[in-house]
Amino acid sequence: MRAQIGKTLVDLGPAELRARLEGHAHVLIDVGTGDGRFVYRWASANPDTLCIGIDAVGERMREVSHRASRKPARGGRPNALFIVASAQALPEELDGLADTLTINYPWSSLFTALVLPDPEVLAGLRRLVRPGAELVTLLNQSVLDDRPYAERLGLPPLTDERVEAELRPAYLAAGFELRENRLLDGDAPHQTSWGQHLTLGSGRRTRLVTAQAVAAASTPAGASAAASGAAESV
Ligand SMILES: C[S@@+](CC[C@H](N)C(=O)[O-])C[C@H]1O[C@@H](n2cnc3c(N)ncnc32)[C@H](O)[C@@H]1O
Repeated sequence: MRAQIGKTLVDLGPAELRARLEGHAHVLIDVGTGDGRFVYRWASANPDTLCIGIDAVGERMREVSHRASRKPARGGRPNALFIVASAQALPEELDGLADTLTINYPWSSLFTALVLPDPEVLAGLRRLVRPGAELVTLLNQSVLDDRPYAERLGLPPLTDERVEAELRPAYLAAGFELRENRLLDGDAPHQTSWGQHLTLGSGRRTRLVTAQAVAAASTPAGASAAASGAAESV
């Protein structure tokens, strides 16, 4: 898999990943991590956690990844790792690692995959986590409430009722049992660059959806049963 280490894009092999994992009791994976600041902060606050940020665009992670790759005394965070990959093609090396999976303010194809939802992307996300792991997503509700705009993007409304009727069974089929589903009234549980940007815009609404990883009820076409098995065995 491709990792953004400092300002360079490198191939990160299994041995290097194992070395990174060593000594860490927990793994957090943040998909659509953007500039990586959320991962850097989580790594600072939780030295026992290997924090892995994944984004389709490596460029945005360069600055924070550069800081994380320094010596700890100079702001380095050896427990922060940045991977360049899309949610549609997540590296198998990460299968079954995470006990916390976060997706904060996704946009474009990641947002669409979560709100439609897309069974294959959900299955790919499920493969990243251990059974019992927590998924926490923060969704920009305002985009969906602006119906003319959302319709141009092909996005249906996201109401409590639609979450229950359509997202709950689809997430469960992928192996995520929904726990919380509500519009936030006050601070979001995760402070991220994009969250801050949205808060500055007036009247922005955020939906919190959390889930717990359970056994998948079905395997969608295209998702390999072997990969699902690998996730369960870690
Ligand atoms: C609005 S930004 C949020 C960044 C960060 N999570 C935050 O809260 O500051 C959305 C991010 O999702 C990433 N993204 C969108 N579609 C993606 C996909 N299919 N796979 C991986 N990343 C994706 C984008 O590259 C972008 O960095």
